[in-house]
Amino acid sequence: MFINFRRIHKWKCVQLLTTAMVLCVLTVCWEELDHHVVSHVRSYSYRYLFNRYDFLNTTISHSNHPRKDGYSRVAGHSVKYPYLINHPNKCRGKNGKVWDDVLLLLFVKSSPDNFKRRQAIRETWGNESFAWSQLGVSVTLLFATGIYADEAHRSRVQDALQQEDNAFGDLIQQSFIDTFHNLTTKLIMQFHWSHKYCPQTHFLMSADDDIFVHMPNLVKYLQQLLDSQSGAKDIWVGHVHKGAPPVRRKDSKYFVPYDLYPWPSYPDYTAGAGYVVSGDVASKIYQATLVLNSSLYIDDVFMGMCAKIMGVSPLEHAYFSGGGKAPYHPCIYDHMITSHGHSADVRSLWRAAIDFRASNSSRGFLDELYCTAVRVMLLCRLHLQSTYSCTAAFN
Ligand SMILES: *[C@@H]1O[C@H](CO)[C@@H](O)[C@H](O)[C@H]1NC(C)=O
Ligand SMILES: *[C@@H]1O[C@H](CO)[C@@H](O)[C@H](O)[C@H]1NC(C)=O
Ligand SMILES: *[C@@H]1O[C@H](CO)[C@@H](O)[C@H](O)[C@H]1NC(C)=O
Ligand SMILES: *[C@@H]1O[C@H](CO)[C@@H](O)[C@H](O)[C@H]1NC(C)=O
Ligand SMILES: *[C@@H]1O[C@H](CO)[C@@H](O)[C@H](O)[C@H]1NC(C)=O
Repeated sequence: MFINFRRIHKWKCVQLLTTAMVLCVLTVCWEELDHHVVSHVRSYSYRYLFNRYDFLNTTISHSNHPRKDGYSRVAGHSVKYPYLINHPNKCRGKNGKVWDDVLLLLFVKSSPDNFKRRQAIRETWGNESFAWSQLGVSVTLLFATGIYADEAHRSRVQDALQQEDNAFGDLIQQSFIDTFHNLTTKLIMQFHWSHKYCPQTHFLMSADDDIFVHMPNLVKYLQQLLDSQSGAKDIWVGHVHKGAPPVRRKDSKYFVPYDLYPWPSYPDYTAGAGYVVSGDVASKIYQATLVLNSSLYIDDVFMGMCAKIMGVSPLEHAYFSGGGKAPYHPCIYDHMITSHGHSADVRSLWRAAIDFRASNSSRGFLDELYCTAVRVMLLCRLHLQSTYSCTAAFN
C-alpha cells in the first residue's frame, strides 16, 4: 500500500496536475464557447422564427418626444455638429446651379490623421478622373471625417487637414470627435450630406479607408442594376450579416450593454467596410435617422436598424468582403468588388487589377474552367477564414 502510494505519488502527481490544468483551460474556454454558442442560437432563432424587430418602430424611435429646444437630437445634426470643412457644390455643375448626373457618391470614412491612406485612394480606386475618362461615369469622392481625438496634436492635424482640403477639395468634416464610438454620428453625417447636397445621385457608397474597391467592376455592376427591368430601386448591397447577436463581453470593441440594446438579435445589416445603396434607399435612411435614437454606436448595426424600420432588406453580393483580404489572383480580380485590410498595397493591387482588365477580359470556355478551378482552390479551403464564400467561386 505504502509502496504503491509512493509509486502513485511520483507518477500521478504529474498526471493529476496536467489533468487539472487541461480542465482549467477547458472550463475557461467552455465558458467563452458556451456563451458564444448560446447567444448565436438565441439570435438565429429570433432572426429565423420571428424576424419582426417591431420593437424598433416603437421602443427606440424618439419622434414622439421632440426636445424642448425645438429640434430633435438628430434632425439638428448639422446644427449640433456644424461643418468645419464642406463642399456644398460637389455634386453640381460648374456654375453651381444644375445638378450633375452622378452615378456614385462615394463616401470614405477616414480618421483625420490618415493622410497617406486618403492619398492612395485618390490615386487609385477613388480617382474621379479615371472613372470619368476610362469608365465614362461620374463618381464623386468625399472623405468623411471628424475632429482629431488627441487634443495635444489637434490643431496641428487640423491645419494639415485644411491644407489637404485646399489642395484636393474632397473632405467634409463636422465638429464631433472622430472616434470609434462616434461612427454612427459619421454615418448620419453622410446621409444628411447626401440628402442636402446630392439628392440626385443614383447610388451612394460608404467605405472604410483601408479597403480596396475594384471600381471598374463596381461601375459595371451598378450600370447593370440601372439597366435592369426593376431599375436601381430599393437596393442595399454588400456583405450581409444575418441574425448577429449583440456582443456582451465587456472587453470587446463591439460590446453593447443591455440598456442600449436589450434584444437578442440585430436586424440584418451589411458590413460597414463597404456597401452601396440606391438613391431612394439613401433618402429612406435619411428619414429614419430623423426618428431613430442614434445612441447605438456601431454604425453598420445602426444602419440595419434604420433600414428595418423603413422596410429595406440588404442584398448579399458574393464579392463584397466583410473582414478579410481577397486572394491575389487575376481570376479573382475578374469579379471582386471590395476587399478589406489594404493600406500599404492599394497601389500595386490597383495596377494589377487594371492591367489585367486592360489585357483582355473576354475569355474562352477553357479559361473560364481554369479560373473556376483556381477560385475553388483559393476560396474553398476549410481552415482559411476567406474573404469571399466558397460559392463565390462558381459565379
Ligand atoms: C487619375 O486617372 C487619370 C486618368 O486615368 C490619370 O491621368 C491621373 O493621373 C490619375 N490621378 C492620380 C492622382 O493618380
Ligand atoms: C463624440 O463627439 C462628441 C462631440 O465632439 C464628444 O463630446 C463625445 O465625447 C464623442 N464621443 C465619443 C464616444 O468619443
Ligand atoms: C436614446 O437611448 C439612450 C439609451 O437607451 C437613452 O439614454 C437616451 O435618453 C435616448 N435618447 C433619446 C433622445 O430618446
Ligand atoms: C415597422 O417596421 C416594419 C418592419 O419591421 C415596417 O415595414 C413598418 O413600415 C414599420 N411601421 C412603422 C409605422 O414605422
Ligand atoms: C481581346 O479580345 C477581343 C475579342 O475577343 C479581340 O478582338 C482583341 O484583339 C483582344 N485583345 C487583346 C489585346 O488580346
